[in-house]
Amino acid sequence: MNGTASLVNSWNEWDPLREIVVGVADNACFEPREPGHRPQLRGKDGGAFPTGPKPPEMIDRANEQLAGLVSLLRSHGVTVRRPEAPRLAEPVRTPSFEVPHQYCVVCPRDVMITVGHEIVEAPMSRRARYFEYQAYRKLVYEYWNADPRAVWTVAPKPSMADSMYREGFWEWPLEKRHREMHASEFCVTQDEVVFDAADISRFGRDLLVQESMTTNRPGIRWLKRHLEPRGLRVHPVHFPLDFFPSHIDCTFVPLRPGLVLTNPDRPLRKGEKELFLRNDWELIDAPRPVSSDDEMPRFCQSSAWLSMNVLSVSPEKVVCEEAERPLQELLDRLGFEVLPLPFRDVFEYGGSLHCATWDVNREGSARDYFPRAEYRTLAEDPAAGL
Ligand code: ARG
Repeated sequence: MNGTASLVNSWNEWDPLREIVVGVADNACFEPREPGHRPQLRGKDGGAFPTGPKPPEMIDRANEQLAGLVSLLRSHGVTVRRPEAPRLAEPVRTPSFEVPHQYCVVCPRDVMITVGHEIVEAPMSRRARYFEYQAYRKLVYEYWNADPRAVWTVAPKPSMADSMYREGFWEWPLEKRHREMHASEFCVTQDEVVFDAADISRFGRDLLVQESMTTNRPGIRWLKRHLEPRGLRVHPVHFPLDFFPSHIDCTFVPLRPGLVLTNPDRPLRKGEKELFLRNDWELIDAPRPVSSDDEMPRFCQSSAWLSMNVLSVSPEKVVCEEAERPLQELLDRLGFEVLPLPFRDVFEYGGSLHCATWDVNREGSARDYFPRAEYRTLAEDPAAGL
């Protein structure tokens, strides 16, 4: 790091990547059933979702593909750091909840986010992930000690008590689901501050936050009150056709200034496109994933749209899952250099290439990519899109 550059510096999802954290599959467990999550086996054979630690051969396979991502990024000059997985297989008990075991530390994206010079640890929405930040603390201390400009913020932890959830959500009949979804009501109530970091997408001075099963309105309000005084603008966004929304990076994926990859099954709520159109951004639909949802790995809880979960090495260079040929061809036509990489064995750990990473340093600064934004802060308008 030279005299003036900051070690913690990342303002968007696409600027040239200098330093990134890639998750590890060590000690991973199957995700436990809890009020905010109902894991289900895929495929026709059915059966109960397993519990406890994942078998070592499964962990090895995921670790091999994560190691592939590490070498690829290093070969492109990126500094790559890894968390250390704590023991995850023991029961966890807090004053307000208990879980039989934790999950994994494969997806730093869900927990950690860099907003400029600030590292924010998200509150999280699921019990098995409450303590996931601990895996990254050693790295956070290193960054915080090494970079005097770095700011470190821990968002308020919710109770995750039974009363924070709507257990009935999972059994809502379709009609009720339609109605509640359009009002953005999911498995988490509006009583406490809840967000996962992966519901946020960074565009320089502007950030989008998806209202979802993992981010509620108080969560977005907290982000607004925290970031608006720093000159940032936080835009709540909604994808009403996604029945189980969680994490924005398979739905709305910026690739470079002026270009977002969009999910044809999950259009933005009416009126929310305007911000992009008014500022000459192009929204381009991703091609359909090569797998159907049924063909996704048996323990994977994400949709086949993990296809869109690409990782930008720069505004010209994108890492894309090896099998997703139609997307690779589109990216190629759009002028990107595509770096294909096998990553399917990581899917059952919560995501793909973008999820499994947390960028700490990208070149560049806080640019305004939406000069024609009509923005009202929470102070000006307490409802502000919520
Ligand atoms: N809910 C998304 C989908 O199935 C998966 C999101 C994964 N992203 C992440 N950061 N873990 O489409």
